[in-house]
Amino acid sequence: MSIRVAVIGAGVIGSAHAVSLARGISGSTVTVVHDFDPARAGALAEQIDARRVDELADVFTADDVDAVLIASPDAVHAQQLLLGLPAGKPILCEKPLATTEADARAVVDAEIALGRRVLQLGFMRRFDPGYVQLKDELTAGRIGEPLIVHNIHRNTRAPYGLRTEQTLTNMVVHEFDIGRWLLDEEYASITVLTPRPGPLTPEGQHDPLLVILRTRSGVLMEVEAFANAQLGYEVTCRVTGSSGQSVMGDGAFITRSAAFSRGVDIPELWFGRFAEAYRVQLQSWIDALRHDTPLLGANAWDGYAATVVSTRAIEAYRTGTTVDIELPEVPELYASG
Ligand SMILES: NC(=O)c1ccc[n+]([C@@H]2O[C@H](COP(=O)([O-])OP(=O)(O)OC[C@H]3O[C@@H](n4cnc5c(N)ncnc54)[C@H](O)[C@@H]3O)[C@@H](O)[C@H]2O)c1
Repeated sequence: MSIRVAVIGAGVIGSAHAVSLARGISGSTVTVVHDFDPARAGALAEQIDARRVDELADVFTADDVDAVLIASPDAVHAQQLLLGLPAGKPILCEKPLATTEADARAVVDAEIALGRRVLQLGFMRRFDPGYVQLKDELTAGRIGEPLIVHNIHRNTRAPYGLRTEQTLTNMVVHEFDIGRWLLDEEYASITVLTPRPGPLTPEGQHDPLLVILRTRSGVLMEVEAFANAQLGYEVTCRVTGSSGQSVMGDGAFITRSAAFSRGVDIPELWFGRFAEAYRVQLQSWIDALRHDTPLLGANAWDGYAATVVSTRAIEAYRTGTTVDIELPEVPELYASG
């Protein structure tokens, strides 16, 4: 049985996911493409032998659609999920779940009303071989108790123009999620520090940021987030433990020695660094749907938690203070697994 997927949003990542589902992933086809811009939807649909659907509501109820992948812009994820969830079909939605806490909670409540978990979020780092190995290190206790987590997250250029608050909700949200997952606990507080602006930072914005979180048990986690870093795309994570250190480097496979120097290439874009994570995420999603096994990625509650942290991050940035982070009790639907 092949899972017939509809893709919403035919931009950079939606197109990459669609082509992967149509050609690379085993057990899936793409039957429907929808985009706000019909020409974009049409071009992608033609490329992968799918059909274009112009009315968003029809995507979720179409007879030839078993599951939906949402890759539209951040600001519309929640409204599209609220429209689509009642149809009851599995949805893989790109991160973030929502851009406001209220919208994220509304999506969680809609899934609770449905009575079963159908939503997975595109926090693909949970499928990245580097992060998976780092998680194994921590779970096995190979470096003792984790005490400090150092993260670097740099983009060559800010993907949607440089807006500091969007750096937190769109970019650092990856670290908010992966930190919870790696440490298996929630954050208690957040601080956002800003150095003097560099020459490329627009008036009124800040870049890079230094985000400092403290978890409930007292682990410190810091993130250098640099949206307009120029030097290339880089993500690293280093954990200092009570009896050792685990370092997840930049994912480079080759060290080249030539012309009297030694080094690695730095990719310009994120796709190469996380290509395997995107592939494994999609294959895992399709496998779970085909074999009716639990979804392994981040769920709606994880998305809600990350959105709460983003919201507190914005508050910490605006006020220059340390802001407490509290989450309500985990609803029963998400209490296990
Ligand atoms: N997981 C990751 O690492 C990762 C990487 C890149 C992007 N993303 C996320 O994926 C989403 C898309 O990012 P992108 O880089 O592909 O953006 P993009 O701008 O390249 O593409 C967005 C597409 O959505 C379409 N669109 C706009 N409004 C729409 C609407 N209301 N309904 C349907 N389509 C609409 C646009 O026409 C465009 O084709 C964002 O939420 C982004 O945060 C995640």
